[in-house]
Amino acid sequence: MSEHLEDIAIAMVAEGQGILAADESTGTIEKRFDSINTKNTEANRQAYREMLFRSKNAMENYISGVIMFEETLHQKAADGTPFVELIKEAGAVPGIKVDMGAKPLAGYPGETVTEGLDGLRERLQAYHAAGARFAKWRAVINISHHSPRAGSIKANAHALARYAALCQEAGIVPIVEPEVQMDGESATHDLSRCADVSAHVLKSVFSELKDARVNLEGMILKPNMVVPATNCTDQACVEEVAETTMRVLMDQVPASVPGITFLSGGQSDIAATAHLNAMNAMYDTPWKLTFSYGRALQASALKAWQGKAENITAASDAFAHRAKMNGLATLGKWNKELEQS
Ligand code: 13P
Repeated sequence: MSEHLEDIAIAMVAEGQGILAADESTGTIEKRFDSINTKNTEANRQAYREMLFRSKNAMENYISGVIMFEETLHQKAADGTPFVELIKEAGAVPGIKVDMGAKPLAGYPGETVTEGLDGLRERLQAYHAAGARFAKWRAVINISHHSPRAGSIKANAHALARYAALCQEAGIVPIVEPEVQMDGESATHDLSRCADVSAHVLKSVFSELKDARVNLEGMILKPNMVVPATNCTDQACVEEVAETTMRVLMDQVPASVPGITFLSGGQSDIAATAHLNAMNAMYDTPWKLTFSYGRALQASALKAWQGKAENITAASDAFAHRAKMNGLATLGKWNKELEQS
């Protein structure tokens, strides 16, 4: 595969495909495993992720890239094949989460800034040597009655831009992920407040990316969709979410960005698919619009797996089904009836 950033970015948003976010930290995967009464051991993490990466139908047809946690980047399948090789054999690009998590931001009670810039240049060189060709950094923006304040948006946008510039220097495509959360602590905001905050955040991110001299053709944007808070009493229909999200993105995202890969953020499997499908069916966009889902791609597979080797086929089938539904949604060709297939 070409090593040019622009070509890697285009491969990451290949027609009809999207990205599997399988980069849960050891702490986050514990929450997922708790839900199926499965112990969070290295062996179980390895077995679960091998099930995903060996799901041939999903990986070869609908998955263009996989985001891994550092442990997974260095892990091997049971037969000794490195996970990086399994992913490449399936035609997908291996990627790595490089941030160190959202930490309290001094001076901004209740708000966070994502850390991990110190030593990042050296880590990126090591990740590149291990086969990673793209990376992810997630900034977390919470909406409450007093947040986000302008200063915390700027701090997060600045960190994202410095991360992106370092990635490009290392020959790695940065996924720039500013997430405005739908299920943040005590969040009850409506659709229009999410639209205002998302627009402000994206404006700040692209201003910082410009100042950091990031090549927009060699990056991918991973935003939230514009949705009301999970606890908002005034929920929006699929078309409203699609229209509002597209209005914000059309206003803020330059056409030179090759792809936008949404996070699912706590939406149900079907909602995440329906929203993506509506946007692709209703709009012609300058960028590819696809998925980079974690929960909305994995929830049904995790449930089918239950931590048991005898359920590997059922789990793999469940993952393949969700991947196919989302693959169709990237083409605007999904509908609810296909869920029964
Ligand atoms: P969700 O789709 O579960 O939000 O995860 C995507 C992701 O990578 C968050 O950083």
